[in-house]
Amino acid sequence: MGVALSKPSPMHAFSPRGPLRGTARIPGDKSISHRALMCAALAVGRSRIEGLNLGGDLASTRAALQAMGARIETGADRAVTVEGVGVGGLLQPAAPFDLGNSGTSARLLMGLVASHPISAEFAGDASLMRRPMARVAAPLRRIGARIEGDHLPLTVAGVYPALATRHVLDIPSAQVKSALLLAGLNTPGITEIVEAAPTRDHLERMLGLFGAHVESADGRIALRGEPDLRPQRLVIPGDASAAAFLAVAALIVPGSDILIPRVGVNPTRMGLYEILREMGADLALVNRRKVSNEPVADLVVRHGALRGIEVPPELAPSMIDEYPIFFIAAAFAEGITRAHGLAELRLKESDRIAGMAAGLRAIGIRVEEDGDALAVHGLGGAPLPGGALIDPGLDHRVAMSFAVAGLHARLAIGVANMAIVDISFPGFLSALDALSPA
Ligand code: S3P
Repeated sequence: MGVALSKPSPMHAFSPRGPLRGTARIPGDKSISHRALMCAALAVGRSRIEGLNLGGDLASTRAALQAMGARIETGADRAVTVEGVGVGGLLQPAAPFDLGNSGTSARLLMGLVASHPISAEFAGDASLMRRPMARVAAPLRRIGARIEGDHLPLTVAGVYPALATRHVLDIPSAQVKSALLLAGLNTPGITEIVEAAPTRDHLERMLGLFGAHVESADGRIALRGEPDLRPQRLVIPGDASAAAFLAVAALIVPGSDILIPRVGVNPTRMGLYEILREMGADLALVNRRKVSNEPVADLVVRHGALRGIEVPPELAPSMIDEYPIFFIAAAFAEGITRAHGLAELRLKESDRIAGMAAGLRAIGIRVEEDGDALAVHGLGGAPLPGGALIDPGLDHRVAMSFAVAGLHARLAIGVANMAIVDISFPGFLSALDALSPA
């Protein structure tokens, strides 16, 4: 069941509170956590997952998998154990899935259900109901699933055996790719996907760990269906997208110097860090290693000056979730920062181009919205004017972005509905307090 966030939580005010220092605590990677639960639910036997993201989106995935027969428990040490049902073993759920705010849960679970002889109703919150599902529904219909409607609430009636086929994707989307691979697991034969551009490859890496036969080269991924997945002991890296909020906070608040340990540094997720470095940010990735087939490193971030930059559209897939906080960083840079190729941002938990542009204007920053591009006129490191109340609606990343902006503003920035941050970063406020006591 999704977390109950329909009632707005009280407004929080964010204002300067001194440099950020010390070691940051971040949650496990949200994308990898969804995939870990799903793969473990399809393995035969018991997996153990350390560092799982315990936010609202994962609660949605977890409840849906439990409703289809997986047994999932959280131990006293917060490690999660999953007793899988085996590929093909998902059971008919008794009630509709409430996926709350989670696009990843909705799209990936649609793929899982599509190739099992079960049917499931998918529902979610107001944000999720406006998000497009045709991108997943259309290819799943081609493999034989019956899906009524292209927005939630909708029903997926799965089919066995589904058709093993080749999908050529026209938008770069890890969610669509992953949904089709998950459908391919219980489909006899080879499911092949040709990507529009490289996107996060966490599922391909994880399926390999669980013993599936997946080949990936030159934008083409091939999966042999009906593998026996072997249960695993997994460690989930820290979430680079959650780390981004603390990293940008340290970059913009004078005197800051922080360490963010064991951040996932999968190259398909590093766009923000690459572009911030080009802008002159003092960011270092040290102690590189691998956990559960994913690269991780410790991230060291120090305050420093940033220069405005042009962000090419090609970078979008590798920083898609980071634009909201990137625009805040841009507001502190010297000169204009212009990001291109942002069409997908309008389809996230909210229209993030419109919401960030309106919020930035409200706190005194000049921005220009031009189709799928956004230009931010930076103040060269001076405090932002601030002095506005931002309503992030049901968008966790917009809420955290304006919270960070308040840390170097002349007048406080209020953020309504801060409880929404629990979707991806439970403990965001205490992580910030630990680095810079309010
Ligand atoms: C995700 C993929 C991205 C991203 C989302 C998580 C995933 O979405 O924005 O937060 O876990 O696969 P798209 O696939 O729509 O780009």
